[in-house]
Amino acid sequence: MKIAVLKETQAHERRVALTPDVVKSLLKAGFSCQIEEGAGINAYLPDERYQEAGATIVSDRNKLYSEADIVLKVNAPTPEEVQHMKEGAVLISFMYAYTNAALVEACLAKKISSFAMDAVPRISRAQSMDALSSQANLAGYKAVIMGADALGKIFPLMMTAAGTVTPAKVLIFGAGVAGLQAIATAKRLGAVVEVTDVRPETKEQVESLGGRFLEVDAEGAQVEGGYAKEVSADFLAKQKELVATRIKEADLVITTALVMGKKAPVLVTEEMVKSMKMGAVIVDMAVISGGNCALSEANNTVTQHGVTIIGESNIPSLLPVNASELYARNIKTLLLHLADKEGFKWEMEEEITQGALITHQGELLNQLTKDILGKSTS
Ligand code: NAI
Repeated sequence: MKIAVLKETQAHERRVALTPDVVKSLLKAGFSCQIEEGAGINAYLPDERYQEAGATIVSDRNKLYSEADIVLKVNAPTPEEVQHMKEGAVLISFMYAYTNAALVEACLAKKISSFAMDAVPRISRAQSMDALSSQANLAGYKAVIMGADALGKIFPLMMTAAGTVTPAKVLIFGAGVAGLQAIATAKRLGAVVEVTDVRPETKEQVESLGGRFLEVDAEGAQVEGGYAKEVSADFLAKQKELVATRIKEADLVITTALVMGKKAPVLVTEEMVKSMKMGAVIVDMAVISGGNCALSEANNTVTQHGVTIIGESNIPSLLPVNASELYARNIKTLLLHLADKEGFKWEMEEEITQGALITHQGELLNQLTKDILGKSTS
């Protein structure tokens, strides 16, 4: 089975799908690995490191696509690139297929079996393959560092000869993977941290990290497949009221609220931004799904009503070393779960295969993608 790793071409993308260490273990498992020239350089992994690990470096991108049995990427190939793939080949990458009809069409036309890293189910057995979590974890850390950097004040309480400096106040929306790492990071830097989430069970997790959970007096969200489902209007109204009183005090706000497959809920309104302290900072991590802050802009930092609003949409790419390292391990574990050197097992009833397999033999299998793209059949 011939694996090809392509250089990422999306703007500002610095990650790579496989690292040399992971190449070594895949070769040991009986796969062959071809890496596009320069694929790892932005993650500080020169071609020589891959060659030392036993991979072949190839400069002809189309040839790589056309000869591979398995294409591994971070971001999905373009629909045009899919046309260069061998009919019936396997693609594993982030896909967000429900937002990308042209990609789905291209995969169907070429009978590509596509596995989406963003659709690996959030179950215990699949934790080591869960790239959304590995990347969100890193991004939660970096969001705090970016926010701290943009803030004109320090995080910790500091007793100095000139008097005491009070600690910064951080308010975090969403205590999922990114939010929990943001809490831990902000606490390590010495901030006072408050957190809001719609899932009541997050209270304990927030408190175990030293955060204060803002409790809303209404029934929270149901959970399905590890994700929050829609929450009542009553809860949201009360949450808004409570948060409006806390946001005025915050120096840094980090928003990570997500309802899977839906546009991000707007939780920080313009009115709230206006009420914030001059010089405060918001990092809107959900910017790519529409944003949790009404004023954030994707891939832009804007200042509105004296508040700096950071809308970086690819934070993991700012940490290409760790992000590639973890992504490569996620993808290897998934691949070795699905296949061995003889080929793929195609266990269609198995939960991870069922969750992650988007298209197969010209058919669209993923229900969320069917629902959102309005497709009932291939
Ligand atoms: P997650 O699903 O683990 O966490 C999301 C949390 O938001 C859950 O705890 C959920 O209960 C909560 N939530 C949902 N609605 C809410 C509401 N109305 N109020 C408060 N909390 C609410 O997701 P994860 O992996 O932590 O990712 C969080 C967000 O960060 C996502 O939007 C994701 O796309 C984004 N992200 C952005 C990155 C970037 O580079 N900007 C990198 C990684 C993730």
